[in-house]
Amino acid sequence: MSRAPTVYGREYNVDVRPVIDLRGDWAAPPTAEMRRAMANAEVGDDITGEDPTVNRLEAMAAEVLGKQAGLFVPSGSMGNLVAMLALAPWGSEILAGDQSHIAGAEQGGAAVVGGRSIRTLANGRMGTFDPAAIRAAIREDDIHYPRTGLLCLENTQNQCGGVPIDAATMAAQTEVAREMGIPVHLDGSRIWNAAVALGVPEAELAVHCTTVQACLSKGLAAPVGSILVGPADVIAVARRHRKLLGGGMRQAGVLAAAGILALTEMRAGLADDHRRARTIAETIAAVPGVSVDLDTVGTNLVYASLEPGMDGDLIAAAMARDGVRISAWRTGMRFALHYGIDDEGVERAIAAIGAAVGQGSGVAA
Ligand SMILES: Cc1ncc(COP(=O)(O)O)c(C=O)c1O
Repeated sequence: MSRAPTVYGREYNVDVRPVIDLRGDWAAPPTAEMRRAMANAEVGDDITGEDPTVNRLEAMAAEVLGKQAGLFVPSGSMGNLVAMLALAPWGSEILAGDQSHIAGAEQGGAAVVGGRSIRTLANGRMGTFDPAAIRAAIREDDIHYPRTGLLCLENTQNQCGGVPIDAATMAAQTEVAREMGIPVHLDGSRIWNAAVALGVPEAELAVHCTTVQACLSKGLAAPVGSILVGPADVIAVARRHRKLLGGGMRQAGVLAAAGILALTEMRAGLADDHRRARTIAETIAAVPGVSVDLDTVGTNLVYASLEPGMDGDLIAAAMARDGVRISAWRTGMRFALHYGIDDEGVERAIAAIGAAVGQGSGVAA
């Protein structure tokens, strides 16, 4: 709770409460248990495959996600990129959502680094593609066209609201690719959230995808790292690409030790993040001028739109003065729940947005 510190008997107006950081689930701090495990991790050289803790993490993640082999990578972006390089031939075209992280927020890595172009398909309101649009986008064999090398999906679909996409829909989304022999990569950065929200094992959501990238550093609170899983031969190629990109780490067991706890200890707790996200969503949806598509709020993310005349950047600045940080842009805001935010944090966030909008900070002059 807030207390005004005193210096020489004078009160200073300094807020010493911890900052409530809702900008991203990447703000989740590592747990005390993770820090202890990191300090005590058994390590070796991972580039030569000799780090026992990394090897254990890779095997565990492959098992949880129902694939043959795993690869520990420094980030989700690198996991997605090495999967694209391993699966889509040079010069081919990759299909990905127009709201996907791969197409919009990874510096166009597949094209810049890899010589593969990305063609976007419209993500519908609930994050999925029209299967007919996937079929129509797959190139015919014509000398003018690039070959279609890969289909990328995202689950949960971040920018559509963190929507969890169920197993039947995943099967339908991948059907054409299966039929035509096109591999599928799943950006499953938050597949853990999807599995908890839908009450199914992660492997059920991953079964029709060739590879899956899943983040350990978001809601699961590991400080660094993602895992890529897939067939052993594909992962072996991805491992070479990880080296090419400078992602080969040495005694990375220090990081993998936290990743193991992310997998074993942190998945069940995501249900609390989802409950808190729902509370925030329903409360702010009632704030005049703020709208939330509540149907899309199924996991830990809440996207809100602002009516003309309001400014998300101004609202965020006002909230930051109350010690609550959010992601915002002129016409919208995002709240990401994670292990570092408890019920009191949610109350503070709700109070801060109420104050920011109530004070008129969000309303342009
Ligand atoms: C859906 C999705 N994919 C990939 C990433 C990239 O992860 P990283 O920040 O670890 O590179 C993010 C990051 O927020 C994401 O939301």
